Amino acid sequence: MSKNSIYILSIESSCDDTGAAILENDRVLSNVIANQKIHAEYGGVVPELASRAHQQNIVPVVQQAILKAGIDKKQINAIAFTQGPGLMGSLLVGTSFAKSLSIALGVPLIAVNHMQAHVMAHFIRDKAQETPDFPFLCLTISGGHTQILKIKSPMDFEILGETIDDAVGEAFDKTAKLLGLPYPGGPLIDKHAKSGNKNAYQFTEPKTKNALDFSFSGLKTAILYFLKKNLKENPNFIDENLNDICASIQHTITNILMKRLILASRSTGIKNIAIAGGVSANSEIRKTIKNGEKTYGWSTYIPKFAYTTDNAAMIGIVGYFKYLNNDFDREDITATSRLKIND
Ligand code: KG4
Ligand code: ZN
Repeated sequence: MSKNSIYILSIESSCDDTGAAILENDRVLSNVIANQKIHAEYGGVVPELASRAHQQNIVPVVQQAILKAGIDKKQINAIAFTQGPGLMGSLLVGTSFAKSLSIALGVPLIAVNHMQAHVMAHFIRDKAQETPDFPFLCLTISGGHTQILKIKSPMDFEILGETIDDAVGEAFDKTAKLLGLPYPGGPLIDKHAKSGNKNAYQFTEPKTKNALDFSFSGLKTAILYFLKKNLKENPNFIDENLNDICASIQHTITNILMKRLILASRSTGIKNIAIAGGVSANSEIRKTIKNGEKTYGWSTYIPKFAYTTDNAAMIGIVGYFKYLNNDFDREDITATSRLKIND
């Protein structure tokens, strides 16, 4: 640990996981996450329960992050926290905690946009991942967002396309629910798809006015009717064909994402392609994008698994860049549930 090191404590509480991390410059010393199991029983995130769990988790999670990093809290130079977008009750817990701690320690406060953080996770220095050169395209796919972004510099983002209805993570989770799988269903679809035939069933792909936009609500309805029809003929249809159904759904979603990404790369001439967000943990999406290196001459950037789903290290890296720019926030800053990526 050198004298010139900047230590950032970062806090993430936008949805259902409570995270805290310590970064020394652009390296992660600790990245602690407490997952909330409670929501699985309800088939989705229950905002009131999420907020309550954050309140229970935040102190131990922050303490553990400091302990694991092996630093003293007096060494912390700034506190970064997720300002939005996310669930209001969840964001408020992290925001209030970050504000109080910044006052108590007498260090600056840095508000971070959660979607920017998913993209900037690529800039965490870690031997398990490479950092893309500017400009690059980033397919940001999570439980709340689906966007193709053009990233010109660390803080300069342009939205080329985005979902007009459901996010891709919702498409995974909602169809998984139709199949009787617990929340969050995305990773389970991925798991079952591994033993299934991705060409077993065909689902029509959506059309959007802007060719780079996404739409997933039609797919969910198509799957609902497909299941209803088949269950009428065979009540065990899902059980008997679960792997094939999962593989076909995952393949359709992957195709929808890839078509837009290929188009965005062609129309901008940018071949540096990154993915970010929880859904980028999906094995078929990762593999298909990687194949773009051979097929389209892309350089692809796939973040380390721990930095794809919600985590505090990605909040910390934005905090570090903002710290270097003296970009600090006042104590009266508020959580903003609908914060836009370029706000
Ligand atoms: O980025 P994230 O952790 O939280 C949000 O900001 O939304 O993304 C969570 C989403 C959930 O919808 C979850 O089902 C999905 O990411 N997800 C996956 C996989 N792992 C997580 N979806 C498909 N395949 C996966 N392996
Ligand atoms: Zn997220």
